[in-house]
Amino acid sequence: MVRTDSIHGMWSSRLMFILAASGSAVGLGNIWRFPYVAGENGGGAFVLVYLGCIFLIGIPIMASEILLGRAGRQSPINTMRSVAIASGASSRWQIIGWMGAFAGFMILSFYAVIAGWVLSYVILLGSGVFVGADADLANDTFSGFIGNPWSVVGWFTGFMVLTVFITARGVGKGLETTVKYLMPTLFALLIILMIYAAVTSGHFIEGVVFLFSFELEKLTWDSVLIAMGQAFFTLSLGMGAIMAYGAYMPKSASIIGTATTIALMDTGVALMSGLVIFPLVFANGLESSAGPGLMFVTLPLAFGQMASGQFFGCVFFILVAFAAITSAISLVEPAVAWIVERLKTTRVVAALLVGTLVWLLGLGSAFSTNVLSDFYIVGEMTFLDTIDYVTNNIVLPLGGIFIALFAGWVLDSKILDEEMKRDLFYFPAWRFLTRFMAPVAVAIVFVMTILQN
Ligand code: PFF
Repeated sequence: MVRTDSIHGMWSSRLMFILAASGSAVGLGNIWRFPYVAGENGGGAFVLVYLGCIFLIGIPIMASEILLGRAGRQSPINTMRSVAIASGASSRWQIIGWMGAFAGFMILSFYAVIAGWVLSYVILLGSGVFVGADADLANDTFSGFIGNPWSVVGWFTGFMVLTVFITARGVGKGLETTVKYLMPTLFALLIILMIYAAVTSGHFIEGVVFLFSFELEKLTWDSVLIAMGQAFFTLSLGMGAIMAYGAYMPKSASIIGTATTIALMDTGVALMSGLVIFPLVFANGLESSAGPGLMFVTLPLAFGQMASGQFFGCVFFILVAFAAITSAISLVEPAVAWIVERLKTTRVVAALLVGTLVWLLGLGSAFSTNVLSDFYIVGEMTFLDTIDYVTNNIVLPLGGIFIALFAGWVLDSKILDEEMKRDLFYFPAWRFLTRFMAPVAVAIVFVMTILQN
């Protein structure tokens, strides 16, 4: 069952796979979500739990996803089916692929709405409305924008069109070309912005202290669950995105080494984003725990007070838009690849189909901040909040447990040996973490969160 290529196309090198997978991993999760959840959950101790989850749970599961994808060389649904059958196990394991494709729909439906906010903020920051603005103006601008269903839906639609367009062009011309240019640009912009924050804010050290000072008493099981969910979300794990990308990875590349590289890049971007955002926030005496509005209200306000803030603020939102688009294309890949295989149709048709369905579902999130803002699903959570909470904190970790159990216990040893032959040194550690650590840790966090609530 050793296939050397996929009908969907292949990455032209290991580097391209790394750029694509880190393009998937680095996204709104790093730049928008990480700083605000770290801020809401007290900083340092939360960050430490998050880092623990990345290294002890995230990397082994990422390696498992790449391994399974490369062994199956198809969409996650068909990959899981054929790898399970080849391992003498039930073809029902394909449910992992189904859950993943479904999670991809749900995540992209709100992800693209937020990405739409980002696109509009590129223009807003560039236009200079925030120069010298006070808190009221920054708040009013944000609530005015998200409160207007037309503009939110318009930008959301624009972002979806872009996603469908890139996806339809295929693995080589669409996905690879996009990540090849956007990812290096993104890294360069982030470094420039960090230097800018360090040099101009005068509060860089405060940002560092906030991100790394360890205050155990701020940690609850709920925040541990959120840290774990964030680790899955930020590494794009538990839903087959990395498995789909793994299917296009050359045979010669090592798996654990590659997974570790991707995780390190992703973590680096999250921490650097924190080191851009918090120094600016502290320099202007603003709140670090502002929630989802941190990037859209607090940060523009901070840029508005800084020298050359109009320019750098605009650059910052361009960077976020790049990060979002390279993640969005990975969210649809599992479903698109499956439709191509199943309906024997072209990627254009598959991408349009998936894009339309995601768009319809996304209207619920687009309206969550305006016409449906008083419509709560659970507690005080709107449609958008509910999908975000459920997918990150429940669906992805659950998918991750199953992937780890399958790769650790069920996968045929011949397939495993073949895929892992370049990773012999780290193999025992991977095996231990995948078999025991990842499933047990996720299960404990689930149980403790339920008990505590
Ligand atoms: N990892 C992306 C981020 O941090 O923004 C989000 C994401 C992409 C999650 C792809 C899941 C996924 F499959």
